[in-house]
Amino acid sequence: MSPCSPALVPALVLLVLVSVSPAGGYFAEEKYPEESEMQPPTVVIAIIARNAAASLPYYLGALERLRYPKDRISVWAATDHNSDNTTAILREWLTAVQKLYHYVEWRPMDQPVSYVGEMGPKHWPASRYEYVMKLKQAALNFARKRWADYILYADTDNIVTNPDTLNLMIAENKSVIAPMLDSPGAYSNYWCGITPQGYYRRTAEYFPTRHRHRLGCFPVPMVHSTLLLDLRKEGMKALAFFPPHKDYSWPYDDIIVFAFSCRAADIQMYLCNKERYGYLNVPAKPHHTLEDDSLNFVHVHLESIIEGPRMHPSRFVHMFPKQRDLLGFNEIYLINLRRRADRRERMLFSLNELEVDVKVVDAVDGNALNSTDIKLLGVDLLPGYYDPFSGRTLTKGEVGCFLSHYFIWKEMVDMQIDKALVFEDDVRFHANFKRRVLRLMEEVEKAELDWDIIYLGRKQVNPSLEEEVENVHNLVTADYSYWTLSYAISLQGAQKLLNAEPLSKMLPVDEFLPIMYDKHPNEEHKSHFPNRNLQAYSTRPLLVQPCHYAGDPEWVSDTETSTLWDDDAVRTDWRGSHKTMKGAPPQPEMLSSSYKDEL
Ligand SMILES: *[C@@H]1O[C@H](CO)[C@@H](O)[C@H](O)[C@H]1NC(C)=O
Ligand SMILES: *[C@@H]1O[C@H](CO)[C@@H](O)[C@H](O)[C@H]1NC(C)=O
Ligand SMILES: *[C@@H]1O[C@H](CO)[C@@H](O)[C@H](O)[C@H]1NC(C)=O
Repeated sequence: MSPCSPALVPALVLLVLVSVSPAGGYFAEEKYPEESEMQPPTVVIAIIARNAAASLPYYLGALERLRYPKDRISVWAATDHNSDNTTAILREWLTAVQKLYHYVEWRPMDQPVSYVGEMGPKHWPASRYEYVMKLKQAALNFARKRWADYILYADTDNIVTNPDTLNLMIAENKSVIAPMLDSPGAYSNYWCGITPQGYYRRTAEYFPTRHRHRLGCFPVPMVHSTLLLDLRKEGMKALAFFPPHKDYSWPYDDIIVFAFSCRAADIQMYLCNKERYGYLNVPAKPHHTLEDDSLNFVHVHLESIIEGPRMHPSRFVHMFPKQRDLLGFNEIYLINLRRRADRRERMLFSLNELEVDVKVVDAVDGNALNSTDIKLLGVDLLPGYYDPFSGRTLTKGEVGCFLSHYFIWKEMVDMQIDKALVFEDDVRFHANFKRRVLRLMEEVEKAELDWDIIYLGRKQVNPSLEEEVENVHNLVTADYSYWTLSYAISLQGAQKLLNAEPLSKMLPVDEFLPIMYDKHPNEEHKSHFPNRNLQAYSTRPLLVQPCHYAGDPEWVSDTETSTLWDDDAVRTDWRGSHKTMKGAPPQPEMLSSSYKDEL
C-alpha cells in the first residue's frame, strides 16, 4: 500500500479534528508534560570471530549481559577461516537475539578454512593481518553509514564480565578508550610505550597500571582487543584500520596500524583501570609478546573464579556437558571441610571446567574433635614435636588434616586402589593442567619409574637440591618441602605410609611425608620412623598453587591462635600446615606463594 492510498485519509482527518477542537482552554488547566528522557547513544558492537568455539559462549554471554538497552545496539558479526564450530555457535546466538537488538548484520564465510601460507594458529602471514584489518574497517564503515554514535570492538577471547563496562567507557567521553582487561599473567590490552619502529616498549608505568597501583584513565600509545570509539567526534573521521596510513612503515599488524592511524590523526588513546572489567586470553600473535605463556581459555576462566566476577555462558548457546574423567587414576579425592561449601563449590566448578572427575571426601573437622575422640582414634603426639615457626605443638586442625589424608591412604589399601590423586580444597591450577598431568603419567609409565608419591603442589624449600628424573619431563626427586596441596599416590606408597603407624606418633602431615622419604632435617623426628623409603617425586613446575597469597586480606588476618591439640577448652579451626611465613621475615621469593593455612 502506498503512503497516499485512500485508506489512510479518514484517519488523518480525524487527527486534525481532535487536535483542533479542544484548543479553547482544554489544555490550559492541564500541566504540560515534561520533556521526556534522552535515549542512550547508539552503539555498534563489532564481532569478528575465528576458531573461537571455546570462548564464544562466555563472550556472547558477557555481551548479552551488558547493561545497555539492546534496541540502541546494532551487532555486526563476521566469521570466516574456521576449522571449528564457531559459525554454528554464532549463528545460533544471532538467531536467538536478533529480535532484541536494533539490527544485526551477519557475515559468515564457510570457505576457505585457513589463510594462504598460514602454518598454524600462531602464524600470521600478511594475508591474515590484512584480512583482519579489512574486517575491522568494514565494521567501521557499517557504523559510520548507520550514523552510530559509538563502535565497540571486542575480540572473542575477551570476556567483558562487568556489565557496566559500556556505560563506564562512554562516561569517560574519550575518542578511543579501552577497559583494562585482566589475564593470569602480566599481559593486558594496552602498551605504555612504543618504539620508534612501532613495537612494544617496556616502561615504568606498565606494571603499576596492570596491578592497579595507580588507578584512572590514562593516555597510552596503544590499546587493542577491546576498545570503544566515539564516532561523533570530529577527528574520528580520519581513522582507519585499512588501508594503512600513507606514511605507514611500522609492522603490518592490525593493532599497530590502528594505533598509528590515531597518532597521525592526533587522537589520543586511553586506558581505564578504575574497575575490573573482564578477562582476556594471551593471544597467539607475534607482536603481543609480553608474557606469552600459552595460557588457554580454561585457565583464564578459572582465574575469573578466583579473582573477580565470574564468567557465565550465554543463555542462547547450547553447551555440551563436560566429559570428565579420572586422568588415568583409579580415584581422585578432594578433601573438603563440609562447612567450607564455598571452597567445595569453587573446586568442583574448576575441576568440571578442566573435565576432571573427583570424589569429595569430608575432611575431619578440627572443631569437632575432642580429646576423647582423639584418644579413641589412637592419636598421640610425636614426642618432642613442636612447630619450628611458632614454637608450639600440634593443633587439632593439624590432627584433622592428618586424619583426612590418612583415611584416604587407608581406603586405598582397604580397596586396593592402584593409584590416586589427592587435592586439598584451596588450590589453583597451572595452565594446561589436565594435559600436563596426562603427559606426565604417560611418561612415568613409559620410563617404568617406581614411585610412591608425586607432588603436584607443595612449598619447595630447597629447589636447587632437586634432581631431574631421567626420561620424564618436568619431574624431579622431592627434597624437604611443606604443604600437601596435591599429590599422586600409589597403592604401594599408601601401604608404606600406613605401615609407619603414624597416628600414634603424629606430627603435621606435611612433615610426616618428608620424614618418610628421608629428607627431613630433624634427625630426632626421623628416628621414630625406621623405614623411610618412600619414593617421592615432584613436578617442576608445580601444577597446583595455593589460592591465597601473601598480601591477600585473608593471609594477613591469619592469626595463629591455635590451641594445643588436646585442650578442649578452646575451639580451633580445622587447619592444615601452619608453615606460613609468620615469625620469619618474609623473603621476596616466598611472598609469591605463601600459603594461607586455614584449609
Ligand atoms: C556446533 O554448535 C551448534 C550450535 O551451538 C550445536 O548445535 C552443534 O551441536 C555443535 N556441533 C559440534 C560438533 O560441536
Ligand atoms: C565530551 O568531549 C567533547 C570534546 O570532544 C566536549 O565538547 C563535550 O562537552 C564533552 N562532553 C561532556 C559531557 O563532558
Ligand atoms: C567428645 O565428643 C563425643 C561425640 O563426638 C562425645 O560422645 C564425648 O562425650 C565427647 N567427650 C568430651 C570429653 O567432651
